[in-house]
Amino acid sequence: MKLLSLIGARPQIIKEAILNKEFEKKGIKEILVHSGQHYDFNMSDVFFKVLNIRKADYNLGVGSATHAQMTAKTMIEFEKVVLKEHPDIILVYGDTNTTLAGAIVGAKLKIPVAHVEAGIRQEPKDMPEEINRVLTDRISKYLFCPSELAVNNLKKEGITEGVYFTGDIMYDLFLKMKPYFKEDIIDELNLEENKYIVTTIHRDFNTDSKEKLESILKELDKITKEIKVVFPIHPRTKKRIGEFNFNEYTKNILLIEPLDYLSMMGLVQKSHLVITDSGGLQKEAYFAGKKAIVVMPDTGWRELTQASWNVLSEPNEIKNKFHHIMSNEISSNVENIYGDGKAGEKVVTYLESNIVK
Ligand code: UD1
Repeated sequence: MKLLSLIGARPQIIKEAILNKEFEKKGIKEILVHSGQHYDFNMSDVFFKVLNIRKADYNLGVGSATHAQMTAKTMIEFEKVVLKEHPDIILVYGDTNTTLAGAIVGAKLKIPVAHVEAGIRQEPKDMPEEINRVLTDRISKYLFCPSELAVNNLKKEGITEGVYFTGDIMYDLFLKMKPYFKEDIIDELNLEENKYIVTTIHRDFNTDSKEKLESILKELDKITKEIKVVFPIHPRTKKRIGEFNFNEYTKNILLIEPLDYLSMMGLVQKSHLVITDSGGLQKEAYFAGKKAIVVMPDTGWRELTQASWNVLSEPNEIKNKFHHIMSNEISSNVENIYGDGKAGEKVVTYLESNIVK
């Protein structure tokens, strides 16, 4: 079996870290393609380094552009690689522009596409990640779901064939790398265990609206009066803070560059709480036993909000939610929602038994 994986943005590189080891174990040939959607050292290379992922065989050098340009350029360049390599299957991950571009190329060339992290759905329907998920699921042949809820979401849309509940690859990675989490990051940042909050904000609906971003920063600033706030900042958010002239709101927040996976998990592990609009981080908080305030109108990881582990928040409610969340009663069993830490192994086993070559 010849397999081609397409990655490009931070969360995909993280997911690849588990699967590439599984492919190696089974002697399956994986050709690794990086679209170049994320290109800064802290957004891409550092993950290859700390997670010990081999260098990509191809880098499409797509970089930042409008959504159409990024998706189109990835498709054009990726198609060339696919036509040259003739893979038996194409793997795409998550919900980025890279994911959708890879899925369209595969489907049009009649090469089966496997979507890792299929079936996640959330409002607003017009957010880029949601558009990418829905379309990718529609044209994928194998849909590997991280949760039972994801399987049900697909069922509601009439997609039942090729759907597998595997558990979440990010949970596999969390368990595998836990012994190596860089918890002494807190000393470097002059923080004390349990006496700070970790925040990340980067979604377009939060960063590109002046009012929403202002609201979020004002709320975080209010929280700094009670507890320290550490903010590893995504390049887009940094850019917007500059453009909107919001630096005054961030002077009490500890703004730092984006962190590598082991440092970020070390920071979360020792924190009091997480405030985020990242799909990945709201789950990683739960893996680490921390609650999260999710600054989104909805989440793809509804199991955690339904159980009152995490809470959703409007930008202007963050401080109130911060006071409520610790007293929330957990309403149902929140153990093992994301599988048993063997999602990667299951993906590879399903692929091996389905693709005869
Ligand atoms: C993308 C994904 C999102 C994922 C996130 C993780 C899409 C639609 N969204 O969002 O699902 O949660 O990655 O980080 O694909 N930039 C840099 N350096 C980089 C990368 C980006 O400066 O290495 C800046 C550029 O100004 C760019 C902006 O960040 O325009 C946004 O990057 P982009 O890749 O479009 O989306 P993300 O917000 O990172």
